[in-house]
Amino acid sequence: MVLDKSYSISEIDNRIYGSFIEHLGRAVYGGIYEPDHPEADDQGFRKDVIDLVKELNVPIVRYPGGNMVSAYNWEDGVGPKSQRPKRLELAWRTIETNQIGTNEFMDWAKKVNTDVMMAVNLGTRGIDAARNLIEYTNHSGGTYWSDLRKEHGYEDPHNIKTWCLGNEMDGPWQVGQKTAYEYGRIAKETGKAMKLVDPSIELVACGSSNTGMPTFPEYEATTLDIAYEEIDFISLHQYYGNRSDDTANYLAKTMDMDHFIKTVTSTCDYIKAKHRSKKTINLSFDEWNVWYHSNDADKQIDAWQIAPPQLEDVYNFEDALLVGSMLITFLNHADRVKMACMAQLVNVIAPIMTENNGRSWKQTIYYPYMYTSLYGRGTALKPILSSPKYDSKDFTDVNYIDCAAVYQKEAEEVVLFLVNKNLQESISVTTDVRSFEGYQVLEHVVLENEDLKATNKPGSEKVTPHKGGSSKINDGVLETRLTKASWNMIRLRNVNA
Ligand code: AHR
Repeated sequence: MVLDKSYSISEIDNRIYGSFIEHLGRAVYGGIYEPDHPEADDQGFRKDVIDLVKELNVPIVRYPGGNMVSAYNWEDGVGPKSQRPKRLELAWRTIETNQIGTNEFMDWAKKVNTDVMMAVNLGTRGIDAARNLIEYTNHSGGTYWSDLRKEHGYEDPHNIKTWCLGNEMDGPWQVGQKTAYEYGRIAKETGKAMKLVDPSIELVACGSSNTGMPTFPEYEATTLDIAYEEIDFISLHQYYGNRSDDTANYLAKTMDMDHFIKTVTSTCDYIKAKHRSKKTINLSFDEWNVWYHSNDADKQIDAWQIAPPQLEDVYNFEDALLVGSMLITFLNHADRVKMACMAQLVNVIAPIMTENNGRSWKQTIYYPYMYTSLYGRGTALKPILSSPKYDSKDFTDVNYIDCAAVYQKEAEEVVLFLVNKNLQESISVTTDVRSFEGYQVLEHVVLENEDLKATNKPGSEKVTPHKGGSSKINDGVLETRLTKASWNMIRLRNVNA
C-alpha cells in the first residue's frame, strides 16, 4: 500500500458518524427514556445510556422515524404530557403513548451533544403539517405555532437545520407509499414551503429503500429531476444479513454498498448535467447496519403493545467486522457521502442495549463505530492498495483487505482503519508512508475473536478490542500484521512535532 499526504479524497463531514432513534420497540421507551429507572435524570432520561451515547461522539441523530413518521402527528407529542393522546402506531403495530415528543427529544439531544435530523410525515400528511412543525421548532416567536412552543416551556427556537422529507416512500410497507412522480412532487412542494419558513435549513429527499428495490435507481432520478432545486441531499438505506451462514460472502457485501454509492452519485450528477445546474447533491446514507438476527422473533410479538422488544438483534463478532468495513466504505467516499446514520442507536438494531429497570451494555458493533467516530475525523486519504482477492457466492474479486486512512493535519496524526476478511490466515501489509516523515506507531487496536459468532451480553463482553496489534515503522515503511478475521485501527503520530 502507498499512503501519501497529497492523495486526498476530501475533508470528512463528521456527520457520517450519525445515528438514529425511532419511536420503535424499546428505542425511546425503555431505551433513552425510563422515568422509573434508578439512573433516570429529572426528565426521565437514563444517565447510563446518555454516557454510552456520549462515548460514541454522535454528531447527529435522525428522529422520530423511520417508518413510524409516515403516520405520525407531531402535535400529539407536544404540550402537557397528561393531555397527550395514545395512538395506534401503524408502522410497527404498537401503542404510542407520546410521552416523548419533539421538545423532549431536543432536550435529550443537548444532553448527548448531538444535532437532530428531523423527519416530516409525507405519508398520511404533507405540506401543511411540515410547515407548521418548522414554524413551531425554528421560528423565533409572535406567530401561532412559535408562541405555542413558548407556551410549552421552550422560549428559544430549536433551530433544527437538517430535515428529511419523509421516509422510504418507495416501499410498499410505507403508510402512504408513493410513486417516484408522486413523491417528487410532494417533496418539492413541502421543501419549498419549509425553506420559506427557514431558508437556512438543509433538506434530504428519499431515494430507494435499498439496492434490491425494483424502481432503483429510477426512483432517485425522477425525484431529483422534479425536486433538484429544493433538496440538498438524497438518502440511501441499506441493511445486510448473513442468512445463509456464508461469512466470506457476507463480509463482501460492502461491494454492494460501494456500488450503491457510486450509482446514486452518478444519478445525482446526471440530473445535475440535465438541469445545467451548478449545485451538487450529496448523499445521506441515513440508515445502515446489519439487520436479520431478530426477524423470526419479531414475528412472534403480539400487536398493540407499548414498547415491545422489536428488532433487538444481538450482534456477533462477524457483524462487527462488516460494520467496520461499512464505515471504511463511507470514508473512501467522503467526497460525496456527507451524512450517514447507523440505524439505530439504542435497543433497536443498535450498538447500545438496555435491560428494563436494569443494566446497559455494549454490543460487538459498538467498538468499530466508536473508534471510527472518535479517530476518523480530518481528511480522508486515498490508500493505493494492492490486496489479495477472493471470489464468493455473489461477488468476484473481493479484496481481503479493506482500508481507509484519515489525516489529522493539526494533530499530525494519520489513522488507518483496516479489516482482514481472510478467515483462515493473517496478512502482512507493507505501507509506504515516506510522506509522513517522523511518524511512528502510537497504537494498534485490534478487534478479533476465534469465534465468528461470539456475542456480548450484559455483564459479559466477550468481544472487546485490545491494543496489542503488531505494527512498526522503519525507514518510511509501515509493517503491519493483520490477524485473520480482524478489524484494526492503527494510529501514527509525528514524534518530532
Ligand atoms: O430502522 C428500521 C426501519 O428500517 C426503519 O423504520 C425504516 O425506515 C427501514 O425500513
